[in-house]
Amino acid sequence: MTPGRTIPSQPVPGSRAVDPWRSTRDLLDGLPDGAGLNIAHEAVDRHATGAAADRTALRCLATDGSVTEVTYAALAHRSSQVAHALEDLGLTAGDRLFLLLGRTPAQYAVAHGALKTRAVVCTLFAAFGPEPIRARLELGGARVLVTTPTLYDRKIASLLEADDALPQLEHVLLVGQPDDRQRPRAQWLDPLLDRFPQQYRIGPTDPDTPAFLHFTSGTTGRPKGALHVHEAVVGHLATARLVLELREGDVYWCTADPGWVTGTSYGLVAPLVVGATAVVDEAEFDSARWYRILAEQKVAVWYTAPTAVRRLMRAGVALAQKFDLSSLRLVASVGEPLNPEAIRWGESALHRTIRDTWWQTETGCIMIAGYGGEPVPAGALGRPVPGITAAVMVSDEEGRAVRTDGHVREEDAGRPGELALRRGWPSMFRAYLDQPERYDAAFVDGWYLTGDVVRRDQHGRFWFVGRADDVIKSSGHLISPFEVESLLMEHPAVVEAGVIGRPDPLIGEVVKAFVVTQTGVEPTETLRLDLLGFARRRLGAAVAPKDIEFVEDLPKTRSGKIMRRLLRARDLGLVEGDTSTLETAVSP
Ligand code: WT7
Repeated sequence: MTPGRTIPSQPVPGSRAVDPWRSTRDLLDGLPDGAGLNIAHEAVDRHATGAAADRTALRCLATDGSVTEVTYAALAHRSSQVAHALEDLGLTAGDRLFLLLGRTPAQYAVAHGALKTRAVVCTLFAAFGPEPIRARLELGGARVLVTTPTLYDRKIASLLEADDALPQLEHVLLVGQPDDRQRPRAQWLDPLLDRFPQQYRIGPTDPDTPAFLHFTSGTTGRPKGALHVHEAVVGHLATARLVLELREGDVYWCTADPGWVTGTSYGLVAPLVVGATAVVDEAEFDSARWYRILAEQKVAVWYTAPTAVRRLMRAGVALAQKFDLSSLRLVASVGEPLNPEAIRWGESALHRTIRDTWWQTETGCIMIAGYGGEPVPAGALGRPVPGITAAVMVSDEEGRAVRTDGHVREEDAGRPGELALRRGWPSMFRAYLDQPERYDAAFVDGWYLTGDVVRRDQHGRFWFVGRADDVIKSSGHLISPFEVESLLMEHPAVVEAGVIGRPDPLIGEVVKAFVVTQTGVEPTETLRLDLLGFARRRLGAAVAPKDIEFVEDLPKTRSGKIMRRLLRARDLGLVEGDTSTLETAVSP
């Protein structure tokens, strides 16, 4: 191996002496009397006692057209009542509280109230069907679930029919207008909260105390619960300031749902820590509506996703020109590759260069992006943010994986390899819930392996190449083929299923399933439609396959793993690549 190509596994003496996150830590208050660091204090309470008390923290746009403004003081009061109520129900530090809510003020009050009690908050995407919800409640050992009566009736009721179902789930709290319907384990949240005081003293919170649990999809096995701690707020604040250039008093809009990590780190947390006004839109995507929000709300900083940008592109530049977008200072994107075409469109329609940002559920905050006024070529991600050391795993002459970092040698520039990040940043995930071996396997020699393939140019800028595994990326969300396959196999007509993402110009990838039917079961069109409906009911529209194709057999490795790569190649009519591990030759 050529010397100089690897980095020393021990830190260079003195190199870690300066804490790169120090200047951000100094912007945070910490709990009174040195009692630690709590996200809810930094995001909500500290603003509520100062000059920002009457500033609008949340401007919530409801689907019915109404607008609700919530000040920092009001959010502090309501979340304190939530904290008292949860304690009264027996919730204690470390217990898991799940949210299944739309993008409404309650989401913020409940999340921050729970963080005050040092419970762990897990936000679920409201478009999930009952099955992904059940799996996550169970894996996460949810003690309390907060939802709406409508979502309860549609998705939760069927899960709680049996008295012994989800035994850990003691309470379901319902947000909304009380009605007379009987719902097992449920009670109404608002009348409960009104009984409690609006002041709450947050208990000692070590920065390493778990705060958020986020499920993310792996190719095999169950969803992984990535656990984040209160110290993550240091990373949220640093990157919101540096990359999103977000400042106190700015109007800010993050279009991501809090059910995904973007909607948590940069929706529930970062804008409030900065002291901005966050626009919260309850409705689903609609191009005219979105432009109207940008214009009418005078959004200065907008954090969105390539899927949304592509949809706006489809609606045409003329629509954009009908709106006054002059308040817009910065547009950023995350979740999928941002095509150069989308960047060019942003320049002509929004008169802004859309800033790409790269990160993952596991990293908790933005890792690689453009910042500091340096132009980033269209198609590149940018550089690691200060405090993050990134490397590309390339193979040496003997084919061994080695890291390149620091100075990029000319012959290494442009070589693709897996992106690795040196561990130790504040918002790094601290565990995969109940799966220590899986967590350990994500690290090698103190480096976190991201599962993404990138390359780095001579200037040290990173370019995204692709994902290293089979996880499907649809509308900016990760979908596990395993989860979809498992559900399809629950249908009596299905013996086996292989699920892939089929490239789609609008939403990145659409979920497609290859299904093998039980012997004797005819693969008819009626069955196909039945399966599509079955999957949609159980998984929800966001996760269910849009297309199902019957096959006689699935390509598998000798160890029995479905070769989704091959299914994909066949589906697209591509070369099949290396099939040496294929178990038997099968016809597509
Ligand atoms: C995966 C992480 C962190 C919020 C997004 C969802 C892909 C993310 C980019 C980008 C190309 C990107 C990666 C990554 N990804 N940002 N700027 N360009 N791909 O988080 O659901 O954990 O997904 O999203 O493949 O590994 P997530």
